[in-house]
Order: sequence, then structure tokens, then C-alpha cells
Amino acid sequence: MSTHINAQKGDIAEIVLLPGDPLRAKFIAENFLEEAKQYNTVRNAFGYTGNYKGVPISVQGTGMGMPSAMIYSEELVQDYGAKILLRVGSAGAINANLKIRDLVLGQGATTDAALHRNIFHHQVEFAPIANFDLLKAAHNIALEKDLPVHVGNVLSSDRFYNDELDKEKLAQYGVLAVEMEAAGIYSVAAKHGVKALAIMTVSDSLVTGEETTAEEREKTFGDMIEVALEAALQ
Ligand code: ADE
Repeated sequence: MSTHINAQKGDIAEIVLLPGDPLRAKFIAENFLEEAKQYNTVRNAFGYTGNYKGVPISVQGTGMGMPSAMIYSEELVQDYGAKILLRVGSAGAINANLKIRDLVLGQGATTDAALHRNIFHHQVEFAPIANFDLLKAAHNIALEKDLPVHVGNVLSSDRFYNDELDKEKLAQYGVLAVEMEAAGIYSVAAKHGVKALAIMTVSDSLVTGEETTAEEREKTFGDMIEVALEAALQ
């Protein structure tokens, strides 16, 4: 086992979906994977491995925020040999063109977190990016499914409640939406030379103040999981 995951080597697949909410991990395992078996209960960060179209796939709840997401990403890659990390989550729109329930593919992940100052000691401002093959595959699949999809920069923020956030400036610079994990996951993937992509549905808008209902979130969530699973297989 690793520090935060109570699994044996070989229990976790090379492809791992990463929802923030552990109960979403359970939902994905029960509704999208065949013969799913739970491999982790430590801290209620549920993790499961099953099959999708005959290919082993794991799904691991990461908790909220980059510190938590990076713990699970690091251990999945370092200790269990994960090669493809696919965040599946939600984001708040800061660009007026994004509608509630739209899909966002995080081509890049700007961040207000200190993690890159910590890693690079102020030498550079590292730009965390998605794996291009995964990004291209997910984009094509979303278009084939006729889903509204946006590709671009997201803000990975350390704060959900951020009154100081200059949303207008970020929108001006092309940042589409705010979420809390992508930059951390992309940076762990970059460190280890593995692939990562963050796929998000717009759950709320910081522009209009709109929010999704639980029912709407459920439906869009299914579309997003299918895009993630199909992209992982390509
Ligand atoms: N995830 C979903 N909505 C969000 C928001 N408004 N801020 C940060 N993360 C989010």
C-alpha cells in the first residue's frame, strides 16, 4: 500500500478517472464499469477498478483542491504505475460564452497556488498543460456526441470563496472557468512523464450567478464520463 491508498500493486489500472467527490467515484464504478471492485476506503477516498469495453479502468476520489488531488495523483503514478490521469469534475464559468452544463477541456491550467514557486524556486512560471492526444480525442468525441464543448485555459484556484478574484481580467486573457485541481494533476503528470486531462462540466456561472440543479448535474455528468472513458481508450 501507499501512504493514502490501501491497495496492492496491480490492483489499480493504468487509466484512472479522478472525480473530486468519492461518492462520484462509487457512482462511476457502479454505473459505467463492469465487475468493479473497491480497492480503497482510507479516509473515505473511495477507489475502484473495473472494466470498460474490456479495458481495465480505475476511478479514484481525490477530495477537493490541489493538495489533496496531488497526493492521490502522485501515489497513483509513483506507487501503482498509473499512466493516464483523467480529472472529471465541475467548474464555474468566468467567460460569458460558457453556458451552464457545457463541457470544458482544460488545455492549460493557470493557478494561484504556490506549488510551482515551491517546485521551481521562482526560476520560472511553469505552465501546466493537458496531454495533446487526450485533449484531441476528448474534443473529437464531444463533437461526435454533439455536446457543447470549450477548449482552453482554466484557473485552478486554492480558494472556492474568493472575493478578490479579478474575473474580468482572467476572462480578458481567455481563461474560461475556475476549478480547483487541474494544475496540480497536470504538474504531477508532467513530473512523471504521464498523460493527464481535466474534463469539467460547468456547474455554476460567476458571470450570471446561475447554478445547476442536482438533476441537471446528473445528466451532464454521464456525458462527461463517457467522453473521458472513450478518450482514454483512444
Ligand atoms: N467548481 C465548480 N464551481 C466552482 C467555482 N465557482 N469555483 C471553484 N471551483 C468550482
